[in-house]
Amino acid sequence: MNKAPLKIAVAGLGTVGGGTVQLLHDQADLLAARAGRPLAVVGAAALVRPPELPLDGVPFFEDARVMARECDYDVLVELIGGADGIALDVVRMALGRGRSVVTANKAMIAHHGIELARLAESTGANIGFEASVGGGIPIIKSLREGLAGNRVTKVMGILNGTCNYILSTMRDSGRDFADVLAEAQALGYAEADPSFDIDGIDTAHKLAILVSLAFATPIDLDRVACEGIRHVSALDIRYADELGYRIKLLGVAGLTESGIEARVYPAMVPLSFPLAHVNGPFNAIVTEGDFVGRTVLEGRGAGARPTASAVAADLMDLARGRTMPAFGVPVERLASLPTAAAGAHRSAYYIRLMVRDEPGVFADIAAALRDEKVSMEQIIQRGRAPSETVPVVMTVHETGEAAMLKAIGRIRALASVADLQVIRIENL
Ligand code: NDP
Ligand code: HSE
Repeated sequence: MNKAPLKIAVAGLGTVGGGTVQLLHDQADLLAARAGRPLAVVGAAALVRPPELPLDGVPFFEDARVMARECDYDVLVELIGGADGIALDVVRMALGRGRSVVTANKAMIAHHGIELARLAESTGANIGFEASVGGGIPIIKSLREGLAGNRVTKVMGILNGTCNYILSTMRDSGRDFADVLAEAQALGYAEADPSFDIDGIDTAHKLAILVSLAFATPIDLDRVACEGIRHVSALDIRYADELGYRIKLLGVAGLTESGIEARVYPAMVPLSFPLAHVNGPFNAIVTEGDFVGRTVLEGRGAGARPTASAVAADLMDLARGRTMPAFGVPVERLASLPTAAAGAHRSAYYIRLMVRDEPGVFADIAAALRDEKVSMEQIIQRGRAPSETVPVVMTVHETGEAAMLKAIGRIRALASVADLQVIRIENL
């Protein structure tokens, strides 16, 4: 093997950066055999040098900008994080020098991916972001290459390991939200600011990237409606069980006649659908293409080793000289597509009310649903507690979102209703 090594500079040595350095060390022979050349780390940057990483003899930079500007590398691996700031600076510097970039930074790609892809095209560099969506699942390659012969009409899935870990652990153990979130953080799954996970923003970043790849359109984060899991309670998780569902935070995008619909929301998923059984930090992504039909990919969506595996996939493509436009086609070939009208979405719903247990309550609720032509499927109320509120759970048949919002507004305004939670039911 006489070929020159692929020279790699790693910016960020935390969960993913550390995992990547470890993988490049542990799998060095395997990677070199498969790429036909060694992959060599020639620079590493972080605020503090982590002593446990196998970086003997590798120049260390406390300032990643200095490394990006001055180090002699073929590819800069950006694993610092954040949509802007230092991460964006070092990526722009590398691409500006005609050096390729590999990143796991979905926030940066969701906000600046098109600009960066254009910059890469202009300087003859490449930018890979396999690790930005689905952790170790090769979904970017799948959409860009494996499904290239299809018109993809739908892409949806569980895209955030932290939320999936929280929801499934709460269900399995009965532990509370804050406790399980702290555990997900300690395991290295969560973002530096975990509200990005639990408020659905991280899923929205990932969905925006998938929409661009699936429908060959520029990334448009503003079109992704976003709702997180803060309001999902242990009570809702128990009722979901009883009704034959699991609650999952989903990112769902479809190409409809009126344009692209892209949303992030917690949903009740029927036990008959594979996504219901994806637990812990695992992610799963469902795609529908006109020739292939439905495909489902599942795997670990967060953590050092799975994410390093995805970073390595991009590095191997660069080492082998197998490159292609970041979004499958050159940026100027991406087509602007309209966003589907809000309110047109149809869904079944779960509604949990906390109501005062007194005569006429059900009649008022039923009247609000009847007036908006929302059809009730089932209703559960147990126990009597005349002096306090009791939970009442209903499911309603598929209905238009606009009608549902009106009915909910009327129910919420009833004096006997103390609290109301609504969760979509995803009938797949
Ligand atoms: P960490 O917080 O664990 O690591 C961040 C690293 O960046 C640390 O080494 C930190 O240095 C370094 N850093 C921070 N600021 C600077 C700076 N100014 N100059 C140089 N280095 C700096 O984050 P993760 O590894 O979890 O995430 C990295 C990226 O990967 C993010 O974009 C994230 O969204 C993405 N990602 C994360 C996944 C996960 O499971 N964690 C999965 C998929 C993607 P120091 O340690 O010295 O402070
Ligand atoms: N915080 C992210 C998650 C990391 O939990 O899915 C992987 O992108």
